[in-house]
Amino acid sequence: MSVHKAESKKITTHTLQEMKRSSEKIAMLTAYDFTMAKIFDQAGIDVLLVGDSASNVMAGHETTLPITLDQMIYHAASVVRGVQRALVVVDMPFGSYQGNSSEALRSAIRIMKESGGHAVKMEGGSEIKESIARILTAGVPVMGHLGLTPQSIYKFGTYTVRAKEEDEANKLIEDAQILEETGCFALVLEKIPASLAKKVAENIEIPVIGIGAGPYVDGQVLVAHDMLGINKEFKPRFLRRYADLNHLMTEAIFHYVSDVKGQQFPNLDECY
Ligand code: KIV
Repeated sequence: MSVHKAESKKITTHTLQEMKRSSEKIAMLTAYDFTMAKIFDQAGIDVLLVGDSASNVMAGHETTLPITLDQMIYHAASVVRGVQRALVVVDMPFGSYQGNSSEALRSAIRIMKESGGHAVKMEGGSEIKESIARILTAGVPVMGHLGLTPQSIYKFGTYTVRAKEEDEANKLIEDAQILEETGCFALVLEKIPASLAKKVAENIEIPVIGIGAGPYVDGQVLVAHDMLGINKEFKPRFLRRYADLNHLMTEAIFHYVSDVKGQQFPNLDECY
């Protein structure tokens, strides 16, 4: 097995923009804890997203809505402690920025101060433009997120592909331009047609990172627990599984239980 040897130079928002200019693809994954973040960082990941998908993956909620700002800060601080090279982007959770731009700024500052993260991510377009601008004035880099935005799941009603219709596609193109003009350093596009994602990536200069948005963008992001096959229930078409850790872990636990019950563990070498 060949393991990518991580270069030690820290990734910054500028590195990502340089990567787009030189057509080097950006590899991004979610991380929610110290141990996983350390493994991913040492394997050469460019960006770690402390996603509010922690609400589903770590806490077992059905949606991303319940996770709190305090909980996001706890996950983000754990990730930051495991990272030497990757850029750590932290999702602003539902309810921490939609009220007004002062609330948004306060939340972003708490994330940066208390977690040590390097940037924040926010879902939405023109409707959160003011909040993004206010956060940027405080020196906090912002990553945008358009397409399927899970914090709006009760508005959408389903997790199906977004922006298949012309009106929604046009609004998305316009929003991407607004986010670039406002000063976002990068943009996530989730679950939209590949042709639309291509158009957006070609029309704006900031890096576009896709999840279920096809190959014609500047980078890819996946939820780590899905691509590692820890979580087996979630099987969207866009997901490629790179391992079956669920199977490996289940086998290991079976073996351990059987050893304990059969008094095969610990043996004499494993005692003091
Ligand atoms: O929270 C998350 O994991 C995300 C990714 C799906 C982009 O926002």
